[in-house]
Amino acid sequence: MRFQDKVVIVTGATGGIGSKAVEAFLKEGAYIVASDLEAEKLDDLERELRASDRMITLAGDVTKRATHNAIVDLAVKSFGGLDIALNNAGISHDVVRLPLIEDELARRVIDVDLMAVFMAMKAQLPVMAKQYEEAERLGSIVNIASAAGLVAAPLMSVYSAAKHGVIGLTKSAAAEYAKRGIRINSICPAFTKTAMVESFFETSTHDRAQATKSLTQGMPMGRMGEVSEIISGILFAADPENSFMTGHSIAIDGGLTSI
Ligand SMILES: NC(=O)c1ccc[n+]([C@@H]2O[C@H](COP(=O)([O-])OP(=O)(O)OC[C@H]3O[C@@H](n4cnc5c(N)ncnc54)[C@H](O)[C@@H]3O)[C@@H](O)[C@H]2O)c1
Repeated sequence: MRFQDKVVIVTGATGGIGSKAVEAFLKEGAYIVASDLEAEKLDDLERELRASDRMITLAGDVTKRATHNAIVDLAVKSFGGLDIALNNAGISHDVVRLPLIEDELARRVIDVDLMAVFMAMKAQLPVMAKQYEEAERLGSIVNIASAAGLVAAPLMSVYSAAKHGVIGLTKSAAAEYAKRGIRINSICPAFTKTAMVESFFETSTHDRAQATKSLTQGMPMGRMGEVSEIISGILFAADPENSFMTGHSIAIDGGLTSI
């Protein structure tokens, strides 16, 4: 088991990518602190995975500092430390030109997609660094950015700006903590079949086939990603065996950002 008895935090844990990441880490032997906005959905996930002995949930908003402090405290008090953090919660905005994005929504996207990753790492890093100092216990942080954090995303400007920011935070923090036992990488998916992309289909003026075509036409593989393909990348980045990789932004995007 790759993550036997590792203590793992997952935010956005009831979403498309988050819920499958929780499942995969549990399967590989981890303890989980799972967080998302709605307690009921977290309870459903815990029941579905039959994981009450290895999983604790906490409902909270990732834009609040208190949420991150509470998640880290839970990991330490309930499972004795923190090995891996998957900072995954995120939102997008309407697919429109920049001037049509409401200021309020732009601020919310920056708050959820960028500031929350900053606040998460601010809570996680001191705990991981102390563990390394005292017991050489290694830490790994995986931030979910996006292919839109690597290249332009026309009609998704604020989302793209926030995700570029996540990559900047990831690289800088990785360099700061490289000698202190903590690896920090980001995963950059392109269109993957979750509720986030589903909302694009719902608001699109095209039918589903046309909308899918317009999303995937620039992708060498010509298709959307499966959640399982993103999970493989997350586990790879988090894996303690992958001990020399830090500060990277790994595109899992069917080749989109390679051309
Ligand atoms: N699906 C894609 O195509 C795609 C592509 C690139 C990047 N991503 C990124 O992957 C991550 C996961 O997204 P997903 O595709 O699973 O979408 P999703 O909508 O299924 O999941 C996102 C989760 O984040 C949670 N969340 C949103 N705002 C929150 C808040 N303020 N506090 C706490 N939790 C909050 C939601 O409740 C939801 O469960 C996001 O960071 C997203 O930007 C997704």
